[in-house]
Amino acid sequence: MSEDKLITTHQALIPTLPSPDADPAVLQVWGGSSLQGHVKISGAKNSALVLITAALLCSEDCRLRNVPSLVDVTRIGQILVSLGVKLKQQDDILNINASTISKSKAPYELVSQLRASFFAIGPLLARLGSACVPLPGGCTIGARPVALHVRGLQLMGADVQIEHGMVNAHVRGNRGRLQGAKIYLDYPSVGATETLMMAATLAQGETIIENAAQEPEVVDLANFCNSMGAKIRGAGTNTIVISGVSRLHSTDYSIIPDRVEAATFLVAGAITYSEISMSPVVPEHLTAAIAKLQDIGVQVVTEGSDCLRVIPSHNLVATDIETLPYPGFPTDMQAQFMALLALSEGNSLVSETVFENRLRHVPELNRMGADIRVKNNHAIIRGVPLLTGAPVVATDLRASAALVLAGLAAQGKTTIQGLHHLDRGYENLEAKFLGLGAKLERVPQSVAIANDAFSPINSDALISS
Ligand code: EPU
Repeated sequence: MSEDKLITTHQALIPTLPSPDADPAVLQVWGGSSLQGHVKISGAKNSALVLITAALLCSEDCRLRNVPSLVDVTRIGQILVSLGVKLKQQDDILNINASTISKSKAPYELVSQLRASFFAIGPLLARLGSACVPLPGGCTIGARPVALHVRGLQLMGADVQIEHGMVNAHVRGNRGRLQGAKIYLDYPSVGATETLMMAATLAQGETIIENAAQEPEVVDLANFCNSMGAKIRGAGTNTIVISGVSRLHSTDYSIIPDRVEAATFLVAGAITYSEISMSPVVPEHLTAAIAKLQDIGVQVVTEGSDCLRVIPSHNLVATDIETLPYPGFPTDMQAQFMALLALSEGNSLVSETVFENRLRHVPELNRMGADIRVKNNHAIIRGVPLLTGAPVVATDLRASAALVLAGLAAQGKTTIQGLHHLDRGYENLEAKFLGLGAKLERVPQSVAIANDAFSPINSDALISS
């Protein structure tokens, strides 16, 4: 068992953050192996990021369990440490003590690396009456504005100014406390719902968020806050009501399983024609993914309350997918399903409606022999009987998972660059696949080049084209 790790400075949590690397690693995947066995699903990345941030609301000890070991989790931990929070990590348990937040200003160099860290604005404003957080930039999947977060905070009595790339927010007047408000979100943004829910937890009076996001991670946040004494009802529906309380107390809480990771393994079984099982999962969180797998011809059976088994089929058939806010089909599973549809007989249409630039994996899948055309936010996929291994570049987190899946199904070897995306959001993905019998190996790029004349793709050229 590892020792407790007290983190009081900017030093890294586990995993250590990657350093700019002259010889970055690539992932070599040899396709064609059949998978078998059981895989353990980690705690949900997107819950972990927001729950760790929500611990800022509490001035007593908070213990979070089932925290995944990910680069993004390390980054959010570092942001809390920079604000004066004490963190102690042991295996998948993170102890957080935010009794002495000494700063309300989050450092640019940390926030710029992780968009989700902007969500700290809600708890900081609620706890301290002021917050200064760099405006997050866009990222590879879209511009990702924060206007809905800002507008909601203004309705709760905050003055918000955006100057020199910083969002400066102060509670108006001299009471130092946000006021409950009725807030309608133009779009059910996950991040805005979470920011405003956290801010409202310690506000004076009642806040009603209408057209709220209904994602399981929003429900997890409400349950976590309620376990600290918050009064939040309606999470998981489109109307969330928060009665503000004056303080929160200590808690011990376990993060939900990662539904996107589970969906990735379901597709892994389907794309390699393999029967594999996975737990823990919350099957209801995967309803849309399971329904689409059934349309494609793949059965998923529930075993007990928290285990799923994928029963493969050699007759994969085309289907259409439109990404939508929950309970619709998740954008975070779109790329992985596209890899599967590339090998499904017939024509499929995938429409990405949540993010404006989340089809960048298409040219990479085409490089492996897929037949996919993009028109605006639609991808038209003509199923092919076979993919062939190729050098490819991961363009975002979920795209990188899609390329691993395609590589597992393809004939020959796929070499994936851009692994920093993968490491942000999948805990031990390679080890998990190795445990299922897949053949894959992470090696320095120089080794891949020396071994078989692998030619790295210039990923900068790819981005600018
Ligand atoms: N949007 C606005 N204005 C806003 C906020 C959002 O127009 O003020 C738009 C965005 O531009 C986007 C859409 O609303 O087009 C959805 O964005 P949302 O705010 O719902 O997403 P998010 O909170 O930034 C979270 C997850 C994403 C996931 C989305 C949608 C975290 C840390 N991130 O992002 O996860 O795709 O919800 O479910 O929770 C991933 O894990 O790979 C990932 C990108």
